Amino acid sequence: MNIRPRRNRKSAAIRALVEETKVTTDDLIFPLFLLEERDAKIEVESMPGIFRLGLDHMLREIEACANLGITTFDVFPVVAEHYKDKMGTRSYDPEFFYLKALEEVKTRFPEVAIMTDVAMDPYSSDGHDGIVENGEILNDETLEVLGKMALAQAATGIDIIGPSDMMDGRVGYIRNVLDENGYKNVSIMSYTAKYASAFYGPFRDALDSAPKSGDKKSYQMNPANQREALIEADLDVEEGADFLMVKPALAYLDVIKLLKDNYSQPITAYNVSGEYAMLKAAGERGWLDYDRVMAETLLSIKRAGADAILTYHAKEFAQLL
Ligand code: PBG
Repeated sequence: MNIRPRRNRKSAAIRALVEETKVTTDDLIFPLFLLEERDAKIEVESMPGIFRLGLDHMLREIEACANLGITTFDVFPVVAEHYKDKMGTRSYDPEFFYLKALEEVKTRFPEVAIMTDVAMDPYSSDGHDGIVENGEILNDETLEVLGKMALAQAATGIDIIGPSDMMDGRVGYIRNVLDENGYKNVSIMSYTAKYASAFYGPFRDALDSAPKSGDKKSYQMNPANQREALIEADLDVEEGADFLMVKPALAYLDVIKLLKDNYSQPITAYNVSGEYAMLKAAGERGWLDYDRVMAETLLSIKRAGADAILTYHAKEFAQLL
């Protein structure tokens, strides 16, 4: 044998030399759930270790994570039922606690990058990402709401808008609205290939945002489809997206790789709530070594081609480093 691959694995020093992929805190985006009450803190039952936080706690959490090297956060609002309506009007009410809080976060930590989510579900009494009429999710009418939502979020000083709604044409529509109003430097990280997945369950528990009837299959992608992601990505690139996201991550590593191979835009992946819950549950029972499977999971997502990863493991991973 003149070729012995094991020679490159013989010591930690040699293994480090030939290591192809490394995950660092620079790659991570930490999703956070915001409560209206400033001093409240409530754990998400299906996501042990993840808390819904009032603003006072969130400011402290961002500071602690920033000190660990995490630079970017995706903030989602927990909206009480009495604020929800058919048209999701609170999503663009500048006095609403979420928008006020974003402003305060950016004032306190101007160097930290803040991302926001654009979709109607947390604000909608129907629990859908768009306007519901006779059981149908209206596309073009929804764009108007999304545009107002994106504009209101941009006005708080945030850095990245994340349209997660999967309406057709929304990236271009939002880009236009932002540019026309002087927010040409606000980035768009499009949920390009967002699948109608059962892995979002714990997130919907956290926000209490599950659809009141029906499912999201008429707008989110069919998990059976890979090539369709290319249609979505072509459109997002044409419409001006700065980042292309694949979601979920683990069951869709092939889609991450497909987009990485076909586009020059940065590719991101959302390691979603259900993926986090699985590792936590097995770790708590002693069935898996949580720290090691967490690190291996993030590594696999990066190896598949993700330039950045949205993950609930972000803080624990940073602490592990
Ligand atoms: C809102 C949104 C969802 C997630 C991110 N933004 C839920 C959904 O589309 O039903 C899921 C995130 C996760 O599961 O961690 N449209």
